[in-house]
Amino acid sequence: MKINIALTKGRLEKQFLQYLKSLGFNIEPLENKGRKLFVEAEEMTFIFAKGVDVATYVEYGICDLGIIGEDILVEYQPDVFDLLPLPFGKCRFALAGKKSLENVQRKRRIATKYPNITHRYFRQKQESVDIVKLEGSVELAPILGLADAIVDIVETGTTLKENGLEILDEVQPITARLIANRSALKIKKSSLDPFIKKLQQEVIFK
Ligand code: PRP
Repeated sequence: MKINIALTKGRLEKQFLQYLKSLGFNIEPLENKGRKLFVEAEEMTFIFAKGVDVATYVEYGICDLGIIGEDILVEYQPDVFDLLPLPFGKCRFALAGKKSLENVQRKRRIATKYPNITHRYFRQKQESVDIVKLEGSVELAPILGLADAIVDIVETGTTLKENGLEILDEVQPITARLIANRSALKIKKSSLDPFIKKLQQEVIFK
């Protein structure tokens, strides 16, 4: 049975393709896909979607497997099987902002694309904050005065540095993950197992 796999477009996509290549897969049809969102390879069909939509396609069983950032799993908690961590997409959630605003004596306003993670983090710290949900370029918020700080993904730290912000606290490390549809794991076991094992071994022995 052919496997359907959903890939997160953008940074993770490139890293996953390089990873597949290093495992000996022929990724040429994927590298030369142009703007296509759907590529049929010999044993697999690949679809390319935004991270949170990858989780949805896998949850609904349209795709058997998905490659996704752990940020999506932690924030949205989709009903999928979290199979294993992959050795790329490593970054972290951090609280960041201007040092000068770290200890303001009033309720802080925090901008983020991840309100659930932010809410949990501050609940643990027993600090009550106002959360402002943004969709991207969150670093703008403390610069323009929309928020006192942000909770966001930091990979190289370049975006923070180039915008005059710094890490105030580490929230949690994250990595890329291989996820699976719960029923597909049973129904398509014989097709999925060899592929999953191949990725698993590489993860264990890396
Ligand atoms: C992410 C994140 C930061 C940036 C961090 O944004 O939200 O802005 O990457 O990466 P760095 O530490 O390597 O600089 P993304 O590029 O996904 O786009 P977005 O701003 O639209 O969320």
